[in-house]
Amino acid sequence: MASTETERQYPSFASRAKTVFKAWLKEPAQISSLVPSSHVLTEEVANRDCVRRAKLVVDLGPGTGETTQSLLHHMSETSHLIAIEKSEVLMEPLRKISDPRAIIINGDARFLARYLAEAGLGAPDVIVSGIPFSTLPQRIALQVIEAIDAALPKGGTFIAYQLSNRIEELASPLFGEPEVETVWLNLPPLRVFSWVK
Ligand SMILES: C[S@@+](CC[C@H](N)C(=O)[O-])C[C@H]1O[C@@H](n2cnc3c(N)ncnc32)[C@H](O)[C@@H]1O
Repeated sequence: MASTETERQYPSFASRAKTVFKAWLKEPAQISSLVPSSHVLTEEVANRDCVRRAKLVVDLGPGTGETTQSLLHHMSETSHLIAIEKSEVLMEPLRKISDPRAIIINGDARFLARYLAEAGLGAPDVIVSGIPFSTLPQRIALQVIEAIDAALPKGGTFIAYQLSNRIEELASPLFGEPEVETVWLNLPPLRVFSWVK
């Protein structure tokens, strides 16, 4: 029922790409990529046992909601997802995701602790991030990583899909060596880094 409702309301790829372009014109360093993620990329991020087992997944920088939809598709019926997107422009497609498991927040990943406390759903099992760490100012990139580290319990999984290796410099001192997969069928091709804390 929830997914049929979402299919009816969720904008087309062309309309989502237009929205991303509008958001990019306002904040190019924050948005970074001009094309919504491909199905191959979102499957690489979401089609995992840790997502299927998770009670709570956090989706940081969901853009128009490609990763959000894929995560919800693989998550269990009783789980929850919190998506935190900074761009007001991108809230329009995100708010059309009609799934009772999803909490969509227009906010900043640096304040993740506050949103988690307000949701009252406990600590996340998985945190996914599409935030472009390579184009963010160093201070902000560090604050986002520190917020992820503070929120993720031992044994939790952190997954970041990125254009550059900068995330490795930021996250490996906290989480150790990542597993890395390159997804060529995405514009641009991206690397998916995963760490188990
Ligand atoms: C590359 S896009 C994500 C693409 C999207 N997940 C997809 O699958 O198409 C990066 C997103 O991170 C968001 N972002 C950047 N900094 C952020 C922050 N501090 N908090 C939350 N979102 C942020 C941007 O507004 C943008 O929507």
